[in-house]
Amino acid sequence: MRRSPLTFWPGARLPLTMAVRGVGLLTRSPLCAQTRTRIRCPTFPRLRCAGTVAAELRRDEQPSGSVETGDGAASRGCGAAPAPGSKDKPSKKTFSEVQEERREQAQRSVLIHCPNTVSEKKFLKYLSQHGPIHTHFFYESFGFYAVVEFCQKDSVDSLLNRTQTPATGTEAAIPFRSRFLYLKPKGPSSHAAKQSLARSSNHLPPSKRKLFELLCSAESVDDQLNTLLKEFQLTEENTRLRYLTCSLIEDIAAAYFPECTIRPFGSSVNTFGKLGCDLDMFLDLDETRRLSTQKSRGNFLMEFQVKNVPSERIATQKILSVLGEFLDHVGPGCVGVQKILNARCPLVRFSHQASGFQCDLTTNNRIALKSSELLYIYGTLDTRVRALVCSVRCWARALSLTSSIPGAWITNFSLTMMVIFFLQQRSPPILPTLDTLRASADEEDKCIIEGNNCTLVRDLNKIKPSENTETLELLLKEFFEYFGNFAFNKNSINIRQGREQNKPDSSPLHIQNPFETSLNVSKNVNQSQLQRFVDLARESAWFLQQEDGDRPSPSSRQPWGLAALLLQTVAPSKRVQKKLPSERIKSLLESVKSNSTQSSTNTSGKQALSTQP
Ligand code: GTP
Ligand code: MG
Repeated sequence: MRRSPLTFWPGARLPLTMAVRGVGLLTRSPLCAQTRTRIRCPTFPRLRCAGTVAAELRRDEQPSGSVETGDGAASRGCGAAPAPGSKDKPSKKTFSEVQEERREQAQRSVLIHCPNTVSEKKFLKYLSQHGPIHTHFFYESFGFYAVVEFCQKDSVDSLLNRTQTPATGTEAAIPFRSRFLYLKPKGPSSHAAKQSLARSSNHLPPSKRKLFELLCSAESVDDQLNTLLKEFQLTEENTRLRYLTCSLIEDIAAAYFPECTIRPFGSSVNTFGKLGCDLDMFLDLDETRRLSTQKSRGNFLMEFQVKNVPSERIATQKILSVLGEFLDHVGPGCVGVQKILNARCPLVRFSHQASGFQCDLTTNNRIALKSSELLYIYGTLDTRVRALVCSVRCWARALSLTSSIPGAWITNFSLTMMVIFFLQQRSPPILPTLDTLRASADEEDKCIIEGNNCTLVRDLNKIKPSENTETLELLLKEFFEYFGNFAFNKNSINIRQGREQNKPDSSPLHIQNPFETSLNVSKNVNQSQLQRFVDLARESAWFLQQEDGDRPSPSSRQPWGLAALLLQTVAPSKRVQKKLPSERIKSLLESVKSNSTQSSTNTSGKQALSTQP
């Protein structure tokens, strides 16, 4: 029998250290005319359903510069907001529409480990036997991979039917059928000449040095914030890969729960993701429950026999324990599986080696999905929101206020809530309160989860755009000033009502959970971390104020604005050093503190600056 060159990818066991966060080198054909400079046009510029791959292959004689970009929103991720500064109107798709679209796209896709000498032309021709290809891209992540999205799901089935489990030599394969495949060359003819090699492009966040250069040569602080967002936001390919990874994990989980869905949530879907961020996902068994609660006719009610355990939490732990074991022993490409079942929210953490994502798998996390929807709405309503959140997250990371290790640090989620709250305080407000989003909801938007009212308006067209025209530069400065002077000792941050409220407990930082209102999303933050945040916010507010009107010319490559704020460690600036000798900073900060203490006591009634409870 002739061996098919495609085989299912067995659970390869490379060291955990090789599974990196973030995706390595990526390229995707329809994007090559876009602005990312490192993307070079691959050989096949347009692969769309309208034509067969064979027809497209004939077109490769055309100069690659004549490529159409097709989906203009492509490189921006999540199908949500347009790039900052763009004149496009924000997409008004609802969160659920985007999730459905992405999920369906992922189901038509396969992930293939390829030899890096593969000829793109032959590769596409080979796959197009199974049906037209909608789009594809290659990337590197300790191996060379292709994501291929067919136009129809049937094509995936056809491909899988022609794929076989590898026959191994000294090792034994645990057979598993999934859409994660391995393309094996059958002979030298499958390798490409240099000019037709499948190409990948670097898709990691920019290096500090590159970022430094980009920020220094920007024209304004607004331009710097937009540049930062453009460089760090999830790209179209990265977003596709995230949804595809969830879809592949769903195939694995389906071995136990055939009707399950694995849904991504958190920064992968809420428009605030940065390249390299983790992939949060949860096992949704609602469909299984829904099917089993459909009313049956007749005099009897039939129920499945199930195992009963004392609580929901124990049920969650048992399900995750089983899945963790299965991912560890059978899941192709899943390595470093850790079961963290005693956490407040039990989870299984693992690295998906081929995508390079660190994954956190939980169950029954519908409220977290709703929080993601809420952030999606805020991120989509006004183009300034994502740019501001991105720069605040980068600022916090650069100053070690946040960390990838769990601890008493502020989290990105809390920082995002703080930015949203701040934008609700502007005059006129840039973002509506959660109560306003609820008031605009109609009957269909009603949503109660575990007894919590999670109703939100889903149709973004119903929300009037803000009339506020403040610049990003002003907003960033004022954000630092606002939180440098916030009465954390007395007040809580509450985006539901959009105003400061008395703290219900003595946690140093209190940010009310938007849907489970008795909870504090920043309960983990201790006093000293909060104090660091406040000190650095004041310092940064002061620094940006000093910068006003004292800006080097873009060509001078002198660090200024965000570059000086974020990247001083890369290229220490004489200018910054000269302006900020440590003793001088101290005395100036003291004067800022006492001035603002006076003014907050005298004028606005805000509390004194101390963060002591
Ligand atoms: P990254 O740091 O980029 O991963 O941001 P993230 O928003 O994905 O944060 P994280 O991975 O820590 O958490 C994933 C999601 O879980 C968040 O987006 C929230 O929806 C939710 N979440 C995280 N922390 C809390 C919390 O303390 N309370 C509640 N209610 N939800 C949380
Ligand atoms: Mg996350």
